[in-house]
Amino acid sequence: MKRKRVILAYSGGLDTSVCIRWLMEAGWRVTAFCADVGQEADFGPVKERALRCGAEKVIVQDLKVPFVRDYILPALKAGAVYEGKYLLATALSRPLIAKALAEAARKEGAAAVAHGCTGKGNDQVRIEVSLKILARGLKILAPVREWELKSRQEEISYAIKRRLPIESKKKSRFSIDQNLWGVSIESGPLEDPWVEPPQEAYRWTTDPSKAPVKGQLLQIDFKKGVPVKLNGTPLPLPALIQKLNRWGAQHGVGRTDLIEDRLVGIKSREVYEAPAATILHAAHRELEQLTLDRETLIFKEGVSQRYARMIYDGLWFTPLRKALDAFVKKSQERVSGTVRVKLYRGSCIPVGRRSPYSRYQAALATYGGKDRFDQRSATGFIALWGLPYVKQP
Ligand code: ARG
Repeated sequence: MKRKRVILAYSGGLDTSVCIRWLMEAGWRVTAFCADVGQEADFGPVKERALRCGAEKVIVQDLKVPFVRDYILPALKAGAVYEGKYLLATALSRPLIAKALAEAARKEGAAAVAHGCTGKGNDQVRIEVSLKILARGLKILAPVREWELKSRQEEISYAIKRRLPIESKKKSRFSIDQNLWGVSIESGPLEDPWVEPPQEAYRWTTDPSKAPVKGQLLQIDFKKGVPVKLNGTPLPLPALIQKLNRWGAQHGVGRTDLIEDRLVGIKSREVYEAPAATILHAAHRELEQLTLDRETLIFKEGVSQRYARMIYDGLWFTPLRKALDAFVKKSQERVSGTVRVKLYRGSCIPVGRRSPYSRYQAALATYGGKDRFDQRSATGFIALWGLPYVKQP
């Protein structure tokens, strides 16, 4: 019987390298698919490893532009932050990777796609729900959920026995996922929620206590919610994000440490680094405070939370997420202007904002001579506002 082809989402790490071999032994011809979402991987050696593990073909696809344009940017405009802290770097990449896998499967005439996610995480849900929506009927394989290998050590023995070219240099004690929007760090010593993350857990950011005392002031221009200039220079968004990642990292900006609720019901300890995302969310939010009216701001807070949960829960390609996008788009019409932000030893603080659509009215706010606010009208306002709660004589 002719062996059928499977497209495997391949990272170059131990799990997915073992996946290649396991799928082959299960009778599949394997094409390894590497999604470049800005994870700074060296794809030469990654490709080589896939082939040496037994893949017949390796595809490396640069997805940075669609990642920024179609996933990161909508999440930024929506103000999507999960459980108050997580800026969703990993979660945002999954629907895109699923979409690319589905397209590759169609192009290559593959009968199935596969991923190396475990059965305990969110990523399996995000990838598979997206695949089911986008490519109904396409077979999905998840070797890590099925095989008998119970630990990292057993995977290593499996690989050694078959002479798979796994990375021999001392592996990090952490599980790392990385892309343009940030780094997610888990496991190892982080599994104890009481233990402070050791410095070596961090990939990008300087220890805030070692960051320059001078700090750094920067200026970001937005147009309808989209960051378009950095310090006055127009930049395409991927480049702007890369630059802010570098600057933010130098100042120790964007670290978070969170006990997080996974969709599958597990609480887990996660550490994140997301310098650019932290700066951009802070600046964007600041501009909204200046340009949106009070009621829209309050309503949008609810939308932001819901939007974040949909990203986290793998519901990207769903009707509600698209409907929320329509609200967000409308809300951004006047979110144009400039924000000044100060990076200082781990903090990122907006210190100035201006906009042609500013709703700030000096004549109302001032305590100086140009005051136009009629203070006497406050008396009647307060009388009616409190009326329902005040017992009448
Ligand atoms: N907890 C985060 C999330 O669910 C990060 C997951 C990291 N994924 C990984 N394969 N290491 O989005």
